[in-house]
Amino acid sequence: MYVEKYRQSNRVREMKYAIRDLVVLANKLEKEGKKIIRLNIGDPLRYDYETPAEMIEAMYDASKNGKNYYADSLGELELREEISKHEKSKHGISTSADDVIFTSGVSEAIYFLLAAFTDVGEEILLPAPTYPAYSSLATVFQNNVKYYNCVEENNWLPDPDDIRLKISEKTRLMVLINPNNPTGAIYDEKVLREIRDIAGENNTVIVSDEIYDDLVLEGERPKGMASIAKDVPTIVFNGFSKSFLAPGWRAGYAYRWDPEDYIADAWEGMKKIARARLSATTPIEYGVLAGLRSERSYLAPLRKKLLSRRDAVAKVLEKSDLFSLVHPKAAFYAFPGIDISRTTFESDEDFVVSLLKEEGVLTVYGSGFGKSPVTKDHFRIVYLAPEEILTEAMEKTVNFAEKHIKN
Ligand SMILES: Cc1ncc(COP(=O)(O)O)c(C=O)c1O
Repeated sequence: MYVEKYRQSNRVREMKYAIRDLVVLANKLEKEGKKIIRLNIGDPLRYDYETPAEMIEAMYDASKNGKNYYADSLGELELREEISKHEKSKHGISTSADDVIFTSGVSEAIYFLLAAFTDVGEEILLPAPTYPAYSSLATVFQNNVKYYNCVEENNWLPDPDDIRLKISEKTRLMVLINPNNPTGAIYDEKVLREIRDIAGENNTVIVSDEIYDDLVLEGERPKGMASIAKDVPTIVFNGFSKSFLAPGWRAGYAYRWDPEDYIADAWEGMKKIARARLSATTPIEYGVLAGLRSERSYLAPLRKKLLSRRDAVAKVLEKSDLFSLVHPKAAFYAFPGIDISRTTFESDEDFVVSLLKEEGVLTVYGSGFGKSPVTKDHFRIVYLAPEEILTEAMEKTVNFAEKHIKN
């Protein structure tokens, strides 16, 4: 009786999360004695990176000094004020502490957003390729997801014509990830303005995930969407997992840009949910506060290190014409194409699973990044690992693919 009664809810059953699913197979293989090179998860702390000492000290001091109570549900006021200042200095955006919600990572902010802004069956527009948490959580919230294409031949920029085709008055949210995971693309001001205009014409809220905007390796930091949005309501996400090197702290935030107060009610809904979960972790809030106030002198060397790691990946992949790679300009992901039709593999998923089983190199298949023709025949590599490991993994990848060229 119990077994029949207690099955996963349908909405969770349908949820897929390629990045984590492959890990189960990798763990099994490792248990059986296979050496696995993990290039699958965007967590710098799994490699040779450290959380800045001043953040750790401030977190520890806060806890030692009694800051172990529930924090303000929206985040400690001092911290939200510092976040406003930080956005002002980075992007020239004036946002008040009232329009900031501190969350347990951007992941939690995505939950809050979908819960407060969408009802079952309502439409949201995601990029293809997308960061999979958006599509997984949209499944849980039973949204009707549509994908707009980003175009490899155009440096993976979003295609405004495709957005025009997919968006309508019914579209409640349009998500942008800039700089992008998985492509490493940076969107220029021209395309951002176009996207703003299209969203405005359709009364759609823009959601701009800017979690990688401090990890620009080549070229300029993209403009913050809120600085371009004019009167188009925009929710911006950012956090401390990537450029502040504290993914395990689960710290992030959302802020609202909405000069005409169009979305005040839905934003209030996000605050309501934040209150219902009581608070994020208090000592962590003081740790990230210290991070925001510090000079962040580690950032320049960090970007340099990532750039040479990116180049190590590109150098090996480019030896084979089976692969194509638009050089990522930011973050720590590469999203190469593989010409599956010239190989014996059935799909990108088949390639990635076989590569893991045979060579022990763990990546993620492209079609896990959203249902669209642009994601297939690709795979994602995380290039956080030291150069020698990346070089070894890429050589294995290239040799493996070449061995499987059709006669
Ligand atoms: C685009 C993007 N948004 C959000 C997240 C999740 O961030 P957090 O650790 O703050 O939940 C990630 C993590 O990889 C990401 O790539």
